[in-house]
Amino acid sequence: MAVKLSVNVNKIATLRNTRALEIPSVVGLARIALETGAAGITVHPRPDQRHIRPQDVLDLAELVKQFAEREYNIEGNPFYGYWELVEKVRPTQCTLVPDTVEQATSDHGWDLRMNGEKLRPVIAELKGLGARVSLFMDADSPDLEKAKELGADRVELYTEPYASAFAEGGEARQQAIELFTQAAQRAGAVGLEVNAGHDLNLENLPALVWALPELQEVSIGHALIGDALEYGMGETVRKYLDACRTNR
Ligand code: PXP
Repeated sequence: MAVKLSVNVNKIATLRNTRALEIPSVVGLARIALETGAAGITVHPRPDQRHIRPQDVLDLAELVKQFAEREYNIEGNPFYGYWELVEKVRPTQCTLVPDTVEQATSDHGWDLRMNGEKLRPVIAELKGLGARVSLFMDADSPDLEKAKELGADRVELYTEPYASAFAEGGEARQQAIELFTQAAQRAGAVGLEVNAGHDLNLENLPALVWALPELQEVSIGHALIGDALEYGMGETVRKYLDACRTNR
């Protein structure tokens, strides 16, 4: 079975927010992703609203509802302004990330020895809202299995170390594939499902999908949006050239 692709639309909002215009349209492009067969949409609303705004979260929830069996995944730190939106839209999946407010992007998983007992009631409450709960974890975390005992359904493996080792190639690539294979097996052995995300792209994704039969879902933003600009550029320039040829 194919791994499910959840398209992270944060970067569309980043571009949109540079003008007081609705261009590009976050909902419009998410719709294209869903129409093309993406299994879901991911957002990571942050307290400073630097990309996804609260209204986007609500609008995207309405959009996803129009597509049968598609999922809405909301990432965020449950201890910083996460609840209000989650309670309102009741997403399919809550991916809990230990980000600080200022952090540019997620760059590590949870330390469950330090935060486990704080997370336990949060996980229970989110599950009470009907959401699947996934914890963002490092593949080399000694606590990976503890996510299960805390009540989580899944772990999302933080794949930046895989992506950079893959780019390096050779031994580093092999070691990273081995590490992530073992992490997915450890998670699977205690009954956790496995997601993955961060810095995945068209080059490094196939090897991860191949190596991790436990992998359920990948959420991809940065590279996918970059590729969308590149692969859509030719067609778009053709349309503008047509507009320039308007008879006068
Ligand atoms: N997973 C988590 C928890 C993230 O914070 C992000 C970035 O928002 C992603 C996945 C997607 O990463 P990328 O934009 O590099 O594809």
